[in-house]
Amino acid sequence: MGFNLGTAFSSHPAELVVFALIVVLAVPVVGLIWVLASWYLAARLNPANLREAVAGRHILVTGASKGLGKAIAIELAKSGASVTLFARGQAALDQAVSEVRSAVLKDEQIIQGFSVDLSDYDSVAKAVASLRDHKSGLPYWVIANAGAAQPGFLADQLPTKEQPSAVQTQINSNYYTATNIVMAVLAACKASAPAAANGESGPLKIGLTHEQSKQLPAKFIFVSSAMSVLAFIGYSSYAASKHALRGFVDAIRTELMPYSVDVHQYLPANMATAGFEEEEKLKPKITAQIEGAGNMQAPEVAAKWLLAGVVNGRYCIANDAIVELARVSVNGAGPRPNFLAEVAATPLLALIFTSWSMIMRGEILTYFKKKSD
Ligand SMILES: NC(=O)c1ccc[n+]([C@@H]2O[C@H](COP(=O)([O-])OP(=O)(O)OC[C@H]3O[C@@H](n4cnc5c(N)ncnc54)[C@H](OP(=O)(O)O)[C@@H]3O)[C@@H](O)[C@H]2O)c1
Repeated sequence: MGFNLGTAFSSHPAELVVFALIVVLAVPVVGLIWVLASWYLAARLNPANLREAVAGRHILVTGASKGLGKAIAIELAKSGASVTLFARGQAALDQAVSEVRSAVLKDEQIIQGFSVDLSDYDSVAKAVASLRDHKSGLPYWVIANAGAAQPGFLADQLPTKEQPSAVQTQINSNYYTATNIVMAVLAACKASAPAAANGESGPLKIGLTHEQSKQLPAKFIFVSSAMSVLAFIGYSSYAASKHALRGFVDAIRTELMPYSVDVHQYLPANMATAGFEEEEKLKPKITAQIEGAGNMQAPEVAAKWLLAGVVNGRYCIANDAIVELARVSVNGAGPRPNFLAEVAATPLLALIFTSWSMIMRGEILTYFKKKSD
């Protein structure tokens, strides 16, 4: 005699309810565990895979004189890549170039630095164009990392006669620094086969001919922030600039598809860099309280998480579990590494972030009842 599930449940309705509850609760939990396990595994960097991807290639890293950018440049040099570093301050750039050079595997790797203000399109276009005529050539990967956070309450960041608002300066620091490098690379591609501009060398796809597209990098990698998926008090100007960047990256990823250019974005949480030290001087106490003190990564570790994510084929790369869960919640039109697990985890994520938002509200109201800032 066979076992009949329907008959078993119709004679024991309470068991059916318990079974349904177990399924309803277990599926999101399994989904969540799956999402986190897959995220953790994608952050393991296999040095051989990185070497295979970048050895003998030329990689441009912006904001590479300090912090995360410098750590990425050193990791790439260790893996056999030639690296071009862009940043403004000459002294820090010279120091970084010498540190990156001392990490190379082979003497023929080119390590060079250019002092460029990435928020100024003309300067960026000139610097990228000069690479075309240089031995290094145009880059195989572009890593748009330059940026800075200027936390504070918006009421303290309004424009004055002496200076623009933080909304403006943050857009310059975090959005234009990235969009300018992409536009400068596209301009260099167009200039590489100028006759194509009037359609003489074949049809245009995404504004470029096939000949011009040969100069496109294989990858654009953007350093955004946890603040592009989770925003709160004290980060209105910064979060807006990184959200703008995320929108740009989501769109340009699809725009570059016809020429098979890969796009990735990194959403790091706090890293122990010079930039973070500057940020701390401006940060309201309530902002620091909500952020919490935990999980501060060294830039060298954060650089490995980024490169592991790139090599392991992740589009959005997070170096913090909560940020990965926030990414799943607001993924939008980007690819999902684990579609079924992410769908299964969604009800639990809604619960987690609703609770988080209620706790944050309580923290803010309690803080300002007791203190002024
Ligand atoms: N540290 C964190 O906790 C954290 C968290 C999330 C996201 N991030 C993001 O990660 C990236 C790197 O941050 P970090 O902490 O490593 O910063 P950092 O230590 O201050 O280094 C920033 C680098 O960018 C360069 N830079 C800044 N503005 C530039 C401009 N307009 N033109 C050219 N170069 C410019 C800086 O050099 P010059 O000033 O000499 O130009 C420096 O080389 C940024 O996009 C940041 O928003 C950081």
